[in-house]
This record gives sequence, C-alpha cells and structure tokens, in this order.
Amino acid sequence: MTFPNDFLWGAATSAYQIEGAWNADGKGESVWDDFCHTPGNVKNNHTGDVACDHYHRYQEDVDHMQYIGLKGYRFSLNWTRILPNGIGHINQAGLDFYSRLIDSLLSADIDPCVTLFHWEYPRALQQLGGWLNPDSSKWFAEYTTIVVDHLSDRVEKWMTLNEPQCFIGRAHFQGLDAPGLKLPMRDALLVCHNSLLAHGRAAKVIRDNAKKSPLIGWAPVGVNRIPAIEDEAHINAARTLMMKAVINTNDPFWTNTWFSDPAILGQYPKDGLNHYKQQMDWYDPDDMKIICQPLDFYGANIYSGSLVTIDEQGQPLVQPPSINKPVTMSSWAVEPRAMKWGVKFLYERYKLPIYITENGLSNPDWVQSDGKVHDPQRIDFLRQYLLALEEAIDEGVDVRGYFQWSLLDNFEWINGYSHRFGLIYVNYETQRRILKESAHWYRQVIQQNAIPEQLVNTT
Ligand code: BG6
Repeated sequence: MTFPNDFLWGAATSAYQIEGAWNADGKGESVWDDFCHTPGNVKNNHTGDVACDHYHRYQEDVDHMQYIGLKGYRFSLNWTRILPNGIGHINQAGLDFYSRLIDSLLSADIDPCVTLFHWEYPRALQQLGGWLNPDSSKWFAEYTTIVVDHLSDRVEKWMTLNEPQCFIGRAHFQGLDAPGLKLPMRDALLVCHNSLLAHGRAAKVIRDNAKKSPLIGWAPVGVNRIPAIEDEAHINAARTLMMKAVINTNDPFWTNTWFSDPAILGQYPKDGLNHYKQQMDWYDPDDMKIICQPLDFYGANIYSGSLVTIDEQGQPLVQPPSINKPVTMSSWAVEPRAMKWGVKFLYERYKLPIYITENGLSNPDWVQSDGKVHDPQRIDFLRQYLLALEEAIDEGVDVRGYFQWSLLDNFEWINGYSHRFGLIYVNYETQRRILKESAHWYRQVIQQNAIPEQLVNTT
C-alpha cells in the first residue's frame, strides 16, 4: 500500500532546541535561557545559547530539507524573539528572521507549519506570574495577533501549543523543566486551564484574522494504550485506560482527555472533574466558550505506549513491559503499535483529521570511521511505526501527514546535547551537518510515498 496522494511528509523542530542566537538582534530572555544559565539544571550545564545555530544557518538547513524531499516543516516561533518582554514592544528583527525562513521554505516547495508555543515562555511574563496570571491567555492572544499579522499571508497550518502535558506536568508540577516550579495541584490545574484559554484565544485570533485561509490545530501528547490482544474486550480496555483523565503517577498531567476534551468537546472529562473538584474553586464553566474553538486537525505526538490486558475481575490493567522490550536512549519503550492504536482512539473520540506532529527516537549516533553516520536502529524504528500508521490509515483513520522528530540533532532539554534525535547529525563544535543513513532512507520513503519493502542500502 502507498500513503494517500497528498500525504504531508515532514520533519519537526522547536526554536529553543535549534536556533541558538539566544540574545541576538534584540531578542528577549525566555524561561529556558534563564533555566539553562543556572548551573545544575541541565546535564553537563549545557545551554541552548548556540544550539545548532539555525538562526544563522537556516538556509543550509532548508537546503538539506529540500534534498530529503520534505513536503512540510514544523517549527516553532520563539515568542521572545518577536516580543522581547512577551507583550508590548515588537522586535522587527525577530519577525524578519521568521519571514526569511518562511520565504526560503516556500521557494523550496516546503509547507511552513508553525507552532506558536514550544515552551519558550518570556521571562518578563514569568516574573508577573506566568501562566498563573489571570491575563496570561490575553498575553498569548496579543503575541498571536502580531504573528498572524506578519506571517499569515504565507502560512496555512498553525499549531497553538506543543505538549501542554509536558510544560505543565514537567515544568510546573514536577519542577524538572523551565521554569522549574513545583506548584500545588490546585495551581497546576489553574496553569492548565489558563493555557487552554490561551489555546482557545489564539485559535480564534488565527481564524478571524489570517490572510491565508488557515488550518488550525495543536500538538498535545499523552499516554497511548495498546490492546495486548486485538479482540473486542482488550480493545475496550485499552480505550478506557487511554481516555482516563486521572492518572495516578508522579506525573498526573500525562493525560489525553484532560486537555483535549475541553479544547475539542467543550468540557472537562467527568472523571477528572469529580476527582479534582475540591481544587478547582476558580473554575468558571463559561470559559469553555473561549477554550473550545473549531479545529481543523489534531496534531498527535506519538513516541511510545504500553500494553493493556484484563485482570481476573475483568478490569483493564497496564501490563509491565517485557524484560526484552527495546528502549530508546530516552528510556522510552519502542512500541510501534502505539502509533496504530494511538491514532485510532484519538480519531474515534475527537473526529478530527490527524497529523503525526512528532515521532522519532534518540540514539547514541556518532560519525563512524568511514565518515558516515549509520543509524539502523532509527531506520527500523521509523519503518515499524510507519507500517503501524499505514495500518491505521487502511482501517479508516484520516491521517493527513507525518512529521519526524527531529530534522536535526538538537538541545534535548534537561538532557542537553547527550541525546541525538536527528535525521541530520550535528557537530556542535564545528556546526557541520551530516545526513544520517536514516535521512537517505526517509528520502526514499517520501519519493515512493511508501515504505520500502526492505532496509535498503542508502549510502
Ligand atoms: C517532545 C517534545 O517531548 O519530544 C520535544 O515536543 C522533545 O521538544 C521530544 O525533544 C523528545 O522528548 P523525550 O522526552 O523523548 O526526550
């Protein structure tokens, strides 16, 4: 089988992870700049100050994208490059950078797909309380208005937030990512609510003002549950666990429905409301009119998942991973069927066309003695996940595109530069790029609009 004719084959990145130029040309500071400049927060005290220097080398990177044959490129805008203080003064040089990047992509026939927020929160706004401030969603709407005003004549596909599950769970509850907060549950839920309001306001700003008719979505993440056996009882059990709002782990925000039900169905899921009602004294149900806006697609970030079985009482149960389960360098289980069942369950519930907005793996890649970067694990990983995606499409799920994470090796948040996720190897001292074997393989996938039968020799 081949993929649908106009399938959007792409790759994704985010601003802080690749751009560098952290204080160039009038850019302001984000919470990640601040966090990385504080020793002890990031492995080896690495920072995104230079990263892949994409800010200065974007043209070379677009040339590589063109060689690979990408039809779409998902990237994020660094809010503080455009509004150094988050609101108020506009930094024209920041807008000009994104404008040049978009022009360059368009002239290479690559669809520029913009994420408004991939965690680069302005430090100046953080000092005003950040996402806890009642005005925070209006700040985000102001930023969106400026972006739309300057870039929407050339951009069609928009994503509001990347993985609220992570920037709330990891950054505001567990204290792991910038700004490193460990808020009580009541406040973490409020951060969640305010960022949902921000999503809704931004979606409306785009819908009402975009010059080019927009396609609007977002890029959440969440648990993926896979039936251990593909029969009705196990499928039902997996669906039930995938759609639970309340997850009793040290990261309770790793839920699909707590975020996507309000944004798409206009209400918090009942199990979550019952569980959290004591902590939601601030909740006004009228806010759903802002939060729930018509969306054109669901962006799903899918990396891993877990098998679900049924216990003796007939209750769904997450199965512990087998001792032989392969894991990526990020300790994520390699679980290709998460792709199939993840999109099936999301499509069934939210009924929106799906783009896979992220999928990939971190691997300890290095330049080998022949000067090349051989990454057979990545080829096998992508191949298996794409086969599972193909199966879902075959069974009726409306999937419109796939963005591999990531185009380039990059700054992997608190893991610094120790994890390599790219199709393209980056030497961080010389900034030399080398296309990995997987990039050549992905090029064949795109050319054929199908997954090559065998692992073909690509070099
Ligand atoms: C997502 C993020 O969490 O996945 C990316 O959107 C990130 O920014 C990527 O780099 C990989 O993350 P992890 O958790 O697998 O190291």
